[in-house]
Amino acid sequence: MIQKRSIAIIGTGNVGVAAAYALFNQRIASEIILVDLNKERAEGEAMDLMHGQLLVGNVNVRAGSYEDLKNTQVVVVTAGVGQSSPDESRLELLNRNAAVYEDIISRLDQHAPNAILIIATNPVDILTYVSQQLSKRAPHRIIGTGTLLDTARFRALLGRYYDVDPRSVHAYILGEHGDSEVPIWSQANIGGKPIQHNTILGKPFNRKALDKLFEESKNAAYEIIKRKGFTNSAIGVVIARIVEGILEDEKSVIPVTVCWEGEYGISDVCMSLPSSVGLAGINHRMTPDLNDEEVDGLKNSAAVLQDSLEGIRIVK
Ligand code: LAC
Repeated sequence: MIQKRSIAIIGTGNVGVAAAYALFNQRIASEIILVDLNKERAEGEAMDLMHGQLLVGNVNVRAGSYEDLKNTQVVVVTAGVGQSSPDESRLELLNRNAAVYEDIISRLDQHAPNAILIIATNPVDILTYVSQQLSKRAPHRIIGTGTLLDTARFRALLGRYYDVDPRSVHAYILGEHGDSEVPIWSQANIGGKPIQHNTILGKPFNRKALDKLFEESKNAAYEIIKRKGFTNSAIGVVIARIVEGILEDEKSVIPVTVCWEGEYGISDVCMSLPSSVGLAGINHRMTPDLNDEEVDGLKNSAAVLQDSLEGIRIVK
């Protein structure tokens, strides 16, 4: 029997709905189950999407509960509170969202033990770590959205700066999805030509302008929240991209949150590395050659995240 490409989304707030819309509109899944404490909201979002089937195709969207998830291949967790003001950091959401996750992970272990989990709630790196500690499923089957969003923002801004398709800009942001994230300039290139110290597509190298682009990427969420109160559209397509990589068993290498096991001398923390993603979850993680400044930046990211973890008591 051909297995349905069935995915579930826990939480139908701004991010959950944006992810559902992206998955529906791109026809990445054949079944999308929306789960929310507010059952009526989940039903309304499912109805509103399902009515677009004529124009998208036969993607079945429905509201459900944890008991409906036994055949889902991927479960996306977006539940929890988001940053409510440009002055609130992602790390400040930790205590409220960690409490929510204890219940969610326990229910998913019971009702969707074989699904791959994608963690999207902030602080996503710490909640990925917490989920891996709480869940009985293998750690490589719990993936955080990590700096795929930051890398997407970075490549979009570099693409606009150099007037080139962002898909032709090869540049990563790694480490924390947050204020300590690290731009990997030493490996950034367009068409195989390193961006550092080179004229690219007629644009002379300008360290100041490029540093400004990185700062714009890093602070994008705050600027968006200042204007619309939350972020959801880009993270929605980021989630859809990760789900697609899993369901297609692509083995694409994308920057997502994994738990580090000694990479660059860093362990016992979850944050982003370029990782091969497929039906098994995380197949491999990559350790690109980095300069000392970049390694120090990643060590700083790890220290920031481990300090925040200090306050969390995880009871399995
Ligand atoms: C952002 C949220 C998803 O960066 O952390 O938009």
